[in-house]
Amino acid sequence: MTRAGFSRSRTELVCEDVPLSAIAAAVGTPLYVYSGATIRARYRALDEAFDGYPHRLHYALKANSTFALVQLLRQLGSAVDANSIWEVDVAQRAGFPPADMVFTGVGKSMQELAQAVPLGLRAINVESPGELERIETIAARLDRVARVAIRVNPDIDAGSHPHISTGLKINKFGVPADVARELMASIGSRPHLKLVAIHVHVGSQITSLAPLRGAAAFLAELAAELDARGLSLEYLDLGGGLGISYDGSDVVSPREYVAALVDEVRSTRLPIVIEPGRSIVGPAGVLVGTVIDIKRRAENSDFAVLDAGMTELMRPALYGAFHRIEPVKAATGVPRHYEMVGPVCETTDVVGRDRMLPTLAVGDLVAIHDVGAYGAAMASNYNRRPLPAEVLVDDGQWRIIKRRQTVDDQLALER
Ligand SMILES: Cc1ncc(COP(=O)(O)O)c(C=O)c1O
Repeated sequence: MTRAGFSRSRTELVCEDVPLSAIAAAVGTPLYVYSGATIRARYRALDEAFDGYPHRLHYALKANSTFALVQLLRQLGSAVDANSIWEVDVAQRAGFPPADMVFTGVGKSMQELAQAVPLGLRAINVESPGELERIETIAARLDRVARVAIRVNPDIDAGSHPHISTGLKINKFGVPADVARELMASIGSRPHLKLVAIHVHVGSQITSLAPLRGAAAFLAELAAELDARGLSLEYLDLGGGLGISYDGSDVVSPREYVAALVDEVRSTRLPIVIEPGRSIVGPAGVLVGTVIDIKRRAENSDFAVLDAGMTELMRPALYGAFHRIEPVKAATGVPRHYEMVGPVCETTDVVGRDRMLPTLAVGDLVAIHDVGAYGAAMASNYNRRPLPAEVLVDDGQWRIIKRRQTVDDQLALER
């Protein structure tokens, strides 16, 4: 039987039994490789954890919106969370009906809203009184009713990296509870708006239950308050944020996470929407790079320069994020300290600090793990580096789902 995800054969790292070196030989590096089986398993684990409680998973496209993966998630029955009108567009092209989309995002331009309102999305998740007014103006002009959810900032510390925490009142996201109450009360007399939900999202890569539970409890309380005032909602949107284990340490399981959410909101009897991104696709991807140079760094450590760096995977440079790195081929060399760096002209272009790895040589392949989320999606053309190729392994077969960009592709936009 094919093994799901990434594992080691006798000789090397494989994805669902396909050797990564074979894919790299055919496609070149740097290269993202995704496991379809891992995406399916992780989607289902979250979905099934609800145990019959009414819910919908709106996959957060921002984590990775490579088209074939978006289509795979649609086949699994997912709905989506789009963070820009362009993600809405991609989701539509992948076959998602507007009623299966929530449109989130801290700053939606007038142009984005003008395109979104006529679509009849499941909800536009509103971030400010001004945005609500702009949606209302557009809906009135079109003589439509816009379905809206209010994103509330619960002032909860997610305990994750400050750059990916969103639920403190000092963060730019959502409106405080008192403003949310005013907005919700006002919607009753605004005929072009329909309040369908309230929304929280307190951060990403959250590895303890307390902030997730706290945010759900906060929303449930607010919903109960609204209910007492005769304002009924269709569902509660509890956002995304469930963390994954990048370093092997324990994290909250999908079951524990969902049980906590359901526990907190059950009394409202409202269906739950969640917007998971990282927890579904994060562990489903590796970035394969080639060692292109080795240089002495200190007495007992070397630089291993890879052809994959911050342009392919920005998380280490952006947040100091940790990703496990290992040679693709079974290695026998004596372990050494390596600073695993990218080829980009920036000192911060380090993908792994001070790693103990079997002796590496130019030409060796290495795999950087757990990059399925916020990896390819954040890649850039800095130094005119082409966006990397992406491959999906599914049912024991692999196929290119995004070809490597060329300079022609880049220059096609330029005059
Ligand atoms: C509003 C919203 N929903 C969902 C997500 C997805 O979060 P995650 O990938 O941590 O599940 C994000 C990302 O931060 C977000 O901003």
